[in-house]
Amino acid sequence: MAVLNHRKVAVIGCGFVGAASAFAIMESGLFSEMVLIDVSKDKAEGEALDISHGLPFAKPMKIYAGDYKDISDAYVIIVTAGAGQKPGETRLDLVKKNVGIFKSIIPQIADVNKDAIMLIVANPVDILTYAAQKLSGYPENRVFGSGTTLDTARFKYLLGEHLGVDSRSVHAFIIGEHGDSEIAAWSSANVSGIPINDFCEMRGHFDHETSMKKIADNVKNSAYEIIEKKGATYYGIAMSVRRICEAIVRDEKTILPISSIQHDNHGISDVALSMPAIVGKDGVECTVPISLSDQEIADLKLSADTLRGVIDDVL
Ligand SMILES: NC(=O)c1ccc[n+]([C@@H]2O[C@H](COP(=O)([O-])OP(=O)(O)OC[C@H]3O[C@@H](n4cnc5c(N)ncnc54)[C@H](O)[C@@H]3O)[C@@H](O)[C@H]2O)c1
Repeated sequence: MAVLNHRKVAVIGCGFVGAASAFAIMESGLFSEMVLIDVSKDKAEGEALDISHGLPFAKPMKIYAGDYKDISDAYVIIVTAGAGQKPGETRLDLVKKNVGIFKSIIPQIADVNKDAIMLIVANPVDILTYAAQKLSGYPENRVFGSGTTLDTARFKYLLGEHLGVDSRSVHAFIIGEHGDSEIAAWSSANVSGIPINDFCEMRGHFDHETSMKKIADNVKNSAYEIIEKKGATYYGIAMSVRRICEAIVRDEKTILPISSIQHDNHGISDVALSMPAIVGKDGVECTVPISLSDQEIADLKLSADTLRGVIDDVL
């Protein structure tokens, strides 16, 4: 195993998401070196300069635009490079385009570094996580996607607002695909151990069905709404990336709904999707078997089938 610098991170793709993630990482003080890579060297250099100028107000670190040879000792490699959907383009066209980009990027990473932890953020994140593992030959625990970490943050935020409680006291997960077939795991949702419906009633909300549907739909449609209003989403995902890096670097063994390749999880295998998992210094330690209702399990299987269909089409 090569010697890695455990204080070194790389961000590949310096668009909205890559730049916002790099900024959030700089503010975190978790790393002492950050390499930015983009097909546009100017873009990577511009972001490296701009973010570096905030360092006198943060913690010392080296931030620079680099090449693949510069990431041979990086501990965490974050891949955000990917095209966004263009008007008139189908979802499958976009998948094909981004799988094409991954076929160029991932082997270049694996050529110089076989031991890092690869965090996939580009969309469709579940398909690209699966592709990245196959293209890199990395062990499965060291390639995972941000998955539904952002959707789960949106879910907790909305529940916190609805119930007038700190969103950090809400324990609830969005699982499955990061996308249209995702599932709000209501049956295990709670606020500090109190089942969600009991807590709702304590706060004066009794129409559970209507509220649950409204909140889950709102989570699912957040990205569409933000993209319609400002063109892209990046702050929420940047905070999610920072949180995942924190769990890795500090070996926190935090439970996060990241996307990883499943093995006979509720009968689901050979597809990457999000389930709560323990995340620490070696990446994904194991998934956590939260209890799910029969309906949630059926919906999870449908979500897996949707993803499997796309994998069969493009890989
Ligand atoms: N996982 C999530 O929760 C989540 C949230 C928001 C956005 N995203 C996804 O993140 C991705 C990036 O979004 P964005 O808004 O930053 O897009 P963007 O177009 O602003 O940035 C993409 C960047 O990737 C670069 N790039 C393209 N091909 C490359 C290659 N071969 N090598 C290196 N760099 C390359 C481009 O030059 C560009 O700077 C998209 O796929 C988007 O859907 C994911």
